[in-house]
Amino acid sequence: MARPPPSLSETAIGDSDIAHAQETAWIEVIRKMEEVYSDLIQYEIELEEKNTALEEAQRFITSVLSSVSDILVVCDSKGRIQQVNLAFLHLTDMAETDLIGMPLDRVLADDVTHLGHWLEAGQGDDREIRFVHSGQGTTEPVALTAATLLDHRGLPAGTVLTGRPVGELRRAYEALKQAQAQLVQQEKMASLGRLIAGVAHELNNPISFIVGNVHVLTKYRERLEAYLGAIHQGVTEPERELLRRTLRIDQLMGDLPALIAGTQEGAQRVADIVKSLKRLSFSQGAAAEAVNVAEIAENAVHWVIKGRNLPDLPRLDLPAVLLAKGQAGQLHQVVVNLVENALDAVDGRTQGVSLSGRRDGELVVLDVCDDGPGIAPENLGKVFEPFFTTKPVGQGTGLGLWISYGIVRDHGGELLALNRPQGGACLRLSLPVA
Ligand SMILES: Nc1ncnc2c1ncn2[C@@H]1O[C@H](COP(=O)(O)OP(=O)(O)O)[C@@H](O)[C@H]1O
Ligand SMILES: [Mg+2]
Repeated sequence: MARPPPSLSETAIGDSDIAHAQETAWIEVIRKMEEVYSDLIQYEIELEEKNTALEEAQRFITSVLSSVSDILVVCDSKGRIQQVNLAFLHLTDMAETDLIGMPLDRVLADDVTHLGHWLEAGQGDDREIRFVHSGQGTTEPVALTAATLLDHRGLPAGTVLTGRPVGELRRAYEALKQAQAQLVQQEKMASLGRLIAGVAHELNNPISFIVGNVHVLTKYRERLEAYLGAIHQGVTEPERELLRRTLRIDQLMGDLPALIAGTQEGAQRVADIVKSLKRLSFSQGAAAEAVNVAEIAENAVHWVIKGRNLPDLPRLDLPAVLLAKGQAGQLHQVVVNLVENALDAVDGRTQGVSLSGRRDGELVVLDVCDDGPGIAPENLGKVFEPFFTTKPVGQGTGLGLWISYGIVRDHGGELLALNRPQGGACLRLSLPVA
């Protein structure tokens, strides 16, 4: 910084005190000026830094806004467009410079007063609105949501409109519906798989019985053939008696009735299993008929137990006959789901699960209960929602109760989730009596 020119008083002779004081004052002034100057430079540096940060933030916001596929329009309190994003420019095929400052009404193709009222009412549901398109007249309908724009004091300063073309939403919805149908199908296949596992297990027993018996019968036939062959050749009586003992013909004859009866019983078991499977018609269209819920429940429990390879049955408290109106196959699926869940809740401990059925006026009621942890109160209303599950990934689809609920509702019945006072959960299935 340049030094100021010497003043007159500084050169005056004989008044050195005053001259000295003035010089000190000058030095002080210059020091202050230098201080101010360096402060200024500091401020400028800070300002530039802030400006850079601001530009960075602006670039960030702009790139975010232009990358979202939803349209975005910001209006001031008088309804003039302040900002639009890239998606909106694409939708309307208009230039940003033309749009900024334009009243929103001018880009709306639909009933304007309607939207005006809606905006006045503030935030709300989606509205389907068409915009003006620079080439084609109007855009496809957009599902639009409005939110109030607030200024830095938190006071309303305009409106933010966001939305998505309805066609796109519809396509997404269709894709979602398809995915959901696929999952439902998967869950059905999974429960069919469990059923088949149970059936296979159930068939295994009588079939291995039959195979074993037939093996023994084949051996016996060889011995009988040898014995009869000797007789037909006209052996002497002592020879025949020797043969009879060595071939153990008497024991063989004694075993035969049991072997044949056992084989017949095994074959009957197989036939019964096949018959019970046939009765479970899984077709959707089958008409409701009188079905024995007690039998269905017992059967379902049986399959689940066999399928999981559990040693004993849960506690069953069922009358012999409990007739309701319905489709056996579908109700079987419901009970299988309930028993599976109950067993899941008690880690497969069959004694922790119980089924009880009764008639209650015009209803047939079946309770599937367990002494597990029960259902958290906040989840009682959610367990019937599709995809609601508290089980680890891969173990639960969250579709079992949802599908069951739908089946029971189609039967004109009800499915309820309760917690027992003594602990554990109860799923209550009620159906109209036949
Ligand atoms: N007996 C039960 N005890 C405790 N919770 C249960 C019982 N039954 C169902 N739930 C709860 O309901 C949820 C949904 O059941 P569900 O629709 O069958 O799907 P998933 O068994 O695949 O989880 C389960 O994850 C569980 O949290
Ligand atoms: Mg389940």
